[in-house]
Amino acid sequence: MEMFRLPQVVKVSGLWSLVTARIMRPDDANIVGNVHGGTILKMIEEAGCIIGTRHCNSQTGDRCVAALARVERTDFLYPMFIGEVAHVSAEITYTSKRSVEVQVNVVSENILTGSKKMTNKATLWYVPISLQNVDRIIEVPAIEYSRPEQEERGKKRYEAQKLERIETKQRNGEIITPVSLPEPFTVGFSQSSLIHLIGPSDCTLLGFVHGGVTMKLMDEVAGIVAARHCKTNIVTASVDAINFHRKIKKGCVITVSGRMTFTSNKSMEIEVFVDADPLVETENGKYRAVTAFFTYISLDKDNKPLPVPPLKLENEEERKHFEDGKARYLQNKAKRLADKEQKQ
Ligand code: COA
Repeated sequence: MEMFRLPQVVKVSGLWSLVTARIMRPDDANIVGNVHGGTILKMIEEAGCIIGTRHCNSQTGDRCVAALARVERTDFLYPMFIGEVAHVSAEITYTSKRSVEVQVNVVSENILTGSKKMTNKATLWYVPISLQNVDRIIEVPAIEYSRPEQEERGKKRYEAQKLERIETKQRNGEIITPVSLPEPFTVGFSQSSLIHLIGPSDCTLLGFVHGGVTMKLMDEVAGIVAARHCKTNIVTASVDAINFHRKIKKGCVITVSGRMTFTSNKSMEIEVFVDADPLVETENGKYRAVTAFFTYISLDKDNKPLPVPPLKLENEEERKHFEDGKARYLQNKAKRLADKEQKQ
């Protein structure tokens, strides 16, 4: 069991770190009865947004809101249960000229036994947007590092994500079209979509949707795809890096669509697209706001991972997506093993 460790770089003033706690209630549950992966993503993003916004407003000048620009790959390490307390700690770990890196850790606490487990670690990048002009990005006040290596390591992470952003192409042109009478275990059989009207409660002070709201909806669709494929209880295992390229405004209708791209022996990869349609602003038209890959695991009634039915591929495009998914799966698996060995 991993113990709850406080963040390494805590600024005593409290400006650069934040800890919140909330009891997990039945409306936070997925259908298995554990806390929904999307709820955890939403809590992570809320903590990041608070600390990012607080930090970026710690100087005189334009007021701003920290907009979520990117989430690094996130693993769900342990399930969290209803009745447990989620402790979410967020800390600013790096600042570039116009972006802020926030490290968020989630620890579950069983308040009956006192046992604690680290369930998630996430790294998020925020960009401060001016309240006066949503197209203006404000300069971020630099943080002080207690050791020069912290700044150097942060700079390396910043440069690596910048490079990755340039290399990763959005699947802009691709759309998910309905398939008539799909066969079980094919891509068409489990593909799913939901439509949601972006209302005021989904939005920041600037009237744009919170990244956490989008991630929760994305996780919901990915979960439906996974459950339709294997007809068992499923859980989110990880989410690959997500870039939030475009804002989604209040009043937009979003379509969140998911399709299975890859199955290993015991995992499923689902690609999710978010398309926004600003209904009343005809000149803007529909656009792709976000894409991401979620990995799900199928569970038996004792919460043990089950083999998943192999995905039946029906055309060249699906075979290509499958091979790309396999490459991501092998790369992530190798990284997990390397991290494990490093810890031992
Ligand atoms: N991840 C991390 N940082 C990012 C980023 C991303 N995906 N996109 C931009 N940035 C950073 C840049 O590194 C730069 O900081 P730097 O100057 O210190 O290097 C800063 O943002 C501005 O970059 P620029 O290229 O000028 O900005 P942009 O025109 O691409 O706008 C956003 C950046 C984030 C404002 C824009 O992409 C956006 O509005 N995204 C949607 C935000 C949102 O609504 N989030 C919730 C979505 S559901």
